[in-house]
Amino acid sequence: MLLPSERLAPSTATDFVTDVAEYLQRTPRQLPSRYFYDALGSALFDAICRLPWYRVTRAETALLARHAREIFEPLPRPLNITELGCGNGEKLAVLLENSHERFRRVHLVDISPAALRSARARLAVLPAIPVTTFQGTYEQGLSRLATHRGHGAWLVLFLGSNIGNFDPPAARDLLRQIRASLAKDDALLLGTDLIKSQRALQLAYDDPLQVTAAFNRNLLRRINDELGGTFDLDSFAHRALWNPHESRVEMHLVSTRAQLVRIAAADLEIEFKKDESIWTESSYKYDPEQVLSEGRLAGFSGGEQWIDEDARFALTLFRA
Ligand SMILES: C[S@@+](CC[C@H](N)C(=O)[O-])C[C@H]1O[C@@H](n2cnc3c(N)ncnc32)[C@H](O)[C@@H]1O
Repeated sequence: MLLPSERLAPSTATDFVTDVAEYLQRTPRQLPSRYFYDALGSALFDAICRLPWYRVTRAETALLARHAREIFEPLPRPLNITELGCGNGEKLAVLLENSHERFRRVHLVDISPAALRSARARLAVLPAIPVTTFQGTYEQGLSRLATHRGHGAWLVLFLGSNIGNFDPPAARDLLRQIRASLAKDDALLLGTDLIKSQRALQLAYDDPLQVTAAFNRNLLRRINDELGGTFDLDSFAHRALWNPHESRVEMHLVSTRAQLVRIAAADLEIEFKKDESIWTESSYKYDPEQVLSEGRLAGFSGGEQWIDEDARFALTLFRA
């Protein structure tokens, strides 16, 4: 069977402990944002998507619903579809509901088993399109696609501004890898959050209900639970800031006092100074022209765009 459902190799746990140890000892201290998404992290992200201040999900879903026919009209049918970092599958469900007859099969890629379970359950209520899953990173999912693509054209969905979590050189590499995994007649539908007012960005990443703060701190809870960490969650404060020079929102966890943290599985002790931070996520914001030029640099052509001017969010369709 082509692209069967698969779990990531059992190295995941090893990657987690190795990455935590390596990134926490960098200057400045960091943790990779892909580790936010254990079961609780994925549920907290779903809650963020419902907050009035985080408009990405609603804006993108509305664009998909409104423009599905225009988006798909020029693409071959039937079409195979794969979504990188599908989350709960809600947006894909909107697409399938609107034009399910176009799709031959769906392949979901996500690092979070909980997200894949939700997405599968969400898609199960839709007309019978075979759904397979791959639990792993975007890069691993793309390698599998390149070697097991089978017949017919593929559309890659990379939504939710997931690309924004990569710094510009890494985003370029990933777009190139997506392009290299595709063949003639394939396409990429890319969702990108756009530069907007500092106030809107600040509220989106530091909401008054503190759901984003809980999402951020949950990473320390996950390290405590899975790696024998001793993080005192109450003494790490959530901080989100817009860095206009780098065009990114940064999320940090700031130690509110001097403290020693142990992580048993990594055989590591870290001394935090008061006000020392762990940089947990970057969300780069784009302008529409920049999205087009990055896509073309990666070797794509086309570049039809649908933009929500109010929420400042863009969907761009590139051709391989
Ligand atoms: C910000 S959420 C977006 C979910 C969905 N695409 C949406 O638009 O609502 C990112 C999703 O990608 C997954 N993810 C994050 N980093 C990943 C990586 N490096 N490789 C694979 N999946 C990743 C997370 O588990 C999560 O489900």
